Amino acid sequence: MGTAILSIGVLGSGKGSNCQSLIDAIAEGRLRARIACVISDVPDALILERARRHGIPAYYLDPAPFKTKLEGEAETRVIETLRAHGVQVVALAGYMRIVKTRLLEAFPQRVLNIHPALLPAFPGMDAWKQALAYGVKVAGCTVHIVDAGTDTGPILLQKTVPVREDDTPDRLHARIQEQEHRAYPEAMQLVAEGRIRLDGRRVRIAPAVL
Ligand code: GRF
Repeated sequence: MGTAILSIGVLGSGKGSNCQSLIDAIAEGRLRARIACVISDVPDALILERARRHGIPAYYLDPAPFKTKLEGEAETRVIETLRAHGVQVVALAGYMRIVKTRLLEAFPQRVLNIHPALLPAFPGMDAWKQALAYGVKVAGCTVHIVDAGTDTGPILLQKTVPVREDDTPDRLHARIQEQEHRAYPEAMQLVAEGRIRLDGRRVRIAPAVL
């Protein structure tokens, strides 16, 4: 992607703290990109409010009739909106729907997700609760390229969080989120610098050019 500014489109359903971490990293010069638009499937999601506060185009796009996936006309509207804003990379940030092949094919290897566990352990919902209940001593988060499975795509970056004796699900999740807010901007900056390349399942990261 050379020296041009990377255009990111964010899809989210919730509070949008990861979207905020991208906005902050851009403002602080740690991420050479712009958020071209934010799209939500939840009309009053805080992620939309955060985007608007920063002058970023923000859209609620009705996902009906589907409850758990992005497909059909809703999928078409999302793809058209991302394209209309010149999006190059799609960042799923707390997006509570399964994305299907049409979106993945519209942005090949350019749909990323952040997951609150060290994949491939604990895919799916409430991953930090799964990790705590399982009894792991190290938890964390994963940024990965999205493929057709659920949380199965090639891993771009991971950060670890030690599990403490007195951890509750909420405490552990809060510490994992701190690491998410570092991981997503770092991963995006690697994409922005054109340093990632897929080698089978491995995401190869080229050394920084100084
Ligand atoms: C994060 O924990 C992320 O890993 C998961 O959903 C949560 C979204 O949080 N995919 P936020 O909306 O970015 O605050």
